[in-house]
Amino acid sequence: MKVLATRRLPGDAWDELGDVEVGPLEDPRDDVEALIVANEPVDPARFPSLRLVANFGVGYDRIDVAACRARGVAVTNTPGVLDAATADLALALMLAARRRVVEGDSLVRAGRWATAWSDGPFLGREVTGATLGIVGHGRIGAAVARRARGFDMRILVHGRTRIDDPPWRPLDDLMRESDIVSLHTPLTPETAGLISRERLALLRDGATLVNTARGGVVDEAALVDELVSGRIGAGLDVFAHEPHVPEALLGLPNVVLTPHVASATVETRAAMTRVAVDNVLAVERGEPPLTPVRGA
Ligand code: DGY
Repeated sequence: MKVLATRRLPGDAWDELGDVEVGPLEDPRDDVEALIVANEPVDPARFPSLRLVANFGVGYDRIDVAACRARGVAVTNTPGVLDAATADLALALMLAARRRVVEGDSLVRAGRWATAWSDGPFLGREVTGATLGIVGHGRIGAAVARRARGFDMRILVHGRTRIDDPPWRPLDDLMRESDIVSLHTPLTPETAGLISRERLALLRDGATLVNTARGGVVDEAALVDELVSGRIGAGLDVFAHEPHVPEALLGLPNVVLTPHVASATVETRAAMTRVAVDNVLAVERGEPPLTPVRGA
C-alpha cells in the first residue's frame, strides 16, 4: 500500500510499514492509498486512491470525516494510549501555574533568588484541597480526576452525560464553584467557544484555567483579556490558531505556556505510532480499521 505521512513517527512500530513517503500534503496524488497525519486538514478528493487517513493523535477536528466517509475513506485516531500523558501535563500545568514554578525558575536563573523573599512575598495558590472543575469526563478527564484525588481536591465534572460520582454540574455552576477548571472536551461544532467571555467572567478571582484539549474550545480573545487583567491565571498547552500564540500572553507571569505537547513522551508517542501503524496494516490486509473515529 502506498503510504504518505506528514512526518516520520517515533517508535519501533514505524519500521513495520516498510517504504513510507514522508512529505507535505500539498499536491494531489492519485497513487496514495493511506495518509498518516497529525490532524492536518485532508481533502480526500485530491487522493482518488485513498482508503485510510490514520491520524496520529486522538483529536481529529481538522479532518473532514464526512467528506472521507462519502468517498469510502476510513479515518482512525489513537484513543486510549495518551490519557495518562495528557492528564499528567494537565496536573503539571495546574501545579506550575498555581505554585508559580516558571516565575520562580526565572528568578533563580536571573540571580534574583533574594527577590522572592525581600520584594514582598512570592506566594502561589494551593492545589491541595482546591475545587477542580473538569469539563469533559471521558478517558482523559477521568485520568485527571484520579490524579486530583491524590491532592485531596474536590472534583466537579461537566460533560454530556450527567453522573453522580464525581458530581456533575451545569457548566456555569462549575465555572463559579471551581478554583481550577481543566478542559478535556474535543473540539466540535458544539464545543467551539464553549468557554465564552461570559463563562470566563464566572471564574473566581485567582482561579486557574488549564487547557490541554483544543484552543478553539475557549474564546481566546476573552481569555487573553482576563489574563492581562491579572484576575485569573492559566496553564495552556493549546491555542486557537497554532502555532500562533497571542503576543499579549508572552510577557505575562500568570500564564504557563507549552507548545501542544500533552502527549509528547517517549512512551506515549511510541504507543500512538503503534496504533496508527496497526490501522494501516489492518487496512492493507483488507481488514476493518482498528480504531475508527466516530462518524467515520
Ligand atoms: C491529540 O491526541 O489530539 C493531541 O492533541 C495531539 O497529540
